[in-house]
This record gives sequence, structure tokens and C-alpha cells, in this order.
Amino acid sequence: MGKSGSERMPCGEPYRSAVSCRVMENRRVAEGYFIMSLGLPAACDTPLPGQFVMLRAKGVQAPLLGRPLSVYAFKRGEKGATLEVLYKVAGTGTLLFSGLPDGGDVEVLGPLGGRFEISPGVKNVILVAGGVGVAPLSFLASHCRGDRADARPRITCYVGAGSADALVGLDRLEASCSDVRICTDDGSCGHHGLVTDLLEKDFNLLDSRDSVICACGPSAMLKRMAELLEKHTVACQISMEERMACGLGACLGCAVAVKAGDGGFRYRRVCKDGPIFDLRELIWER
Ligand SMILES: Cc1cc2nc3c(=O)[nH]c(=O)nc-3n(C[C@H](O)[C@H](O)[C@H](O)COP(=O)(O)OP(=O)(O)OC[C@H]3O[C@@H](n4cnc5c(N)ncnc54)[C@H](O)[C@@H]3O)c2cc1C
Ligand code: FES
Repeated sequence: MGKSGSERMPCGEPYRSAVSCRVMENRRVAEGYFIMSLGLPAACDTPLPGQFVMLRAKGVQAPLLGRPLSVYAFKRGEKGATLEVLYKVAGTGTLLFSGLPDGGDVEVLGPLGGRFEISPGVKNVILVAGGVGVAPLSFLASHCRGDRADARPRITCYVGAGSADALVGLDRLEASCSDVRICTDDGSCGHHGLVTDLLEKDFNLLDSRDSVICACGPSAMLKRMAELLEKHTVACQISMEERMACGLGACLGCAVAVKAGDGGFRYRRVCKDGPIFDLRELIWER
């Protein structure tokens, strides 16, 4: 992955360049969902939970721009490292990824953006994953598992998907979390209904003093969570999946409105200032 350099872009942001990597495996895990493992050079930076990479198929004319994908897993080996992404085919770029053969070449820029922050005193981590939002949260859960046994928080994960067929990444979540609570819109697995409905039912059991919620999913899910949290004081960090272009903070293509201290608003870049934000900071109406 790109190493930080001292060179700066005209906007003042540090210049970073993508590195060429080999696809070690590109495996379909459900209809329209894939896990891609990438071989990275030993000199790559170690990603933190919540960070993402910009991925691009090498040698293609279009799409010209990389696509942002969260780090799903990362492991160092003797000669290099393996990075995994879990992705859903959404359009041109991800469809192209889904056809990459094992041994194919890609360009990876990252790790980019900020991380989920779990302070040492936190005893309960509540993860709320909608669809492919499971990717960064699974990486976060595995990080929390890595903490000293006596310092490990209890992790409860609420996972929502349209139907049982679209529930991906459950095996890893079950390995890292104390409890995985499943919801499907059509009732084909777990609770019948939205993930936020199930979360709402359990809200009163939450002690906001030692708990934190970390969420990633479609904006409708995050918006509903913002409504629920109006009546609760628990801290909540979310990963935003805004459309991106440069991924480096230069083009302002990923700007979102956040509350400013004076009662107004200002714009923040998801790629550079996020993708992790305090849920209560965001303005959803804009
Ligand atoms: C920080 C970050 C992390 C992400 N992590 C993951 C991940 O781990 N796995 C994963 O599957 N996806 C992830 N995404 C979303 C992913 O980047 C988009 O699905 C992808 O860029 C779509 O590219 P495309 O060329 O396939 O689709 P396009 O042809 O560009 O668009 C197809 C459709 O998808 C919509 N779309 C495009 N980009 C986004 C987006 N960012 N969010 C929602 N809808 C979009 C378009 O409006 C359009 O309707 C992440 C996005 C961000 C910003
Ligand atoms: S994608 Fe260019 S500033 Fe965020």
C-alpha cells in the first residue's frame, strides 16, 4: 500500500501513491458478494479498524478512479502481508473486481482515513452492521478480541440484511463477538424486521457510561439510529460510505455536512476527516 511521502499535492494534502498488488484469491461468498485477498509488500502500513483502501483494477481504461473498500482483515507474514476486502457488486467498478482472476493485478492506495476509537474503560461494544457494513465492524471486532483477556470488552453485534442469502461474514463475527443478533427484512433468518428495531428494543438495557456503539450501513439505517439516539446518551461512531473520487482529501467530492459550534454547519471530507464520525455530529437533512 502507498507509503506516506513528504511531497504535497497543490491542496496541501500529503501525496500518496498506489502500489501494485496481486490478487491471491477472489472468492464469491454469496450472490453478489465477494472476498478478495491481496498480497501486499512487507513495507506496507498496518491498517487500523475503520480505515479503507482505494482499489483499482490495473491496466484498465475505465473506471479511471479507484473504489473505496473497508479493510475486512489484515495479516502480516514473513515476506509480506495479506489484506482482505469484502465487497458487494454495486456497479461498474465492483463488477469489474468480481471478474478479477486469482493472480490478477490491482492497485491499492491506503490505508486511508481515520479509525474507530474504543477507549480503554469501555466494557460494552455494540456493533450495528447493515449489509456489507459488516466489513469494517468485523475488523474492529477482531481487534478488540486481540486485547488482553482481562481488558477485552463484551462485543454484541446486530447484523441486518434483506434476506438470509445476503448475510455475509457471520462466521468471523461469531468468532470475535460475545453475541451476534441477526435481523432480516423478510424474516428468512433471525428477527423479522430492521436491525434498528431490534437495537431499539435493547436500548434500555444499555449503560451509556461504559458502552459505545459503532455502526456501518446504508444511510437509512444510520439516519434511523440518529433518531433513536436523540433519547439516549450512549456514544456512537459511524463509518460513512460516501461516494469518493481521489480518496486523499483533494477533490472535496466526498463532503458531508456536520454541525458547527455556532449552530451552523460546515463540510468535512469523508476520506480525510472520516470515514469515522460521531453520529450526533452529522446533519442528515442536507
Ligand atoms: C470509506 C468507504 C468504505 C467502503 N467500504 C465498502 C466495503 O467494505 N464493501 C463494499 O462493498 N462497499 C464499500 N463501500 C462502498 C463502495 O465503495 C461502493 O459500493 C463502490 O464504490 C461502488 O462502485 P461501483 O463502480 O461498483 O459502482 P458505481 O457504478 O459507481 O455506482 C453504482 C451504484 O452504487 C451507488 N454507489 C456508488 N458509490 C457508493 C457508495 N460509496 N455508497 C453507496 N452507494 C454507492 C451509486 O449511486 C450507484 O447507484 C465503501 C465506501 C466508502 C466511502
Ligand atoms: S474523495 Fe476527494 S476529497 Fe474525499
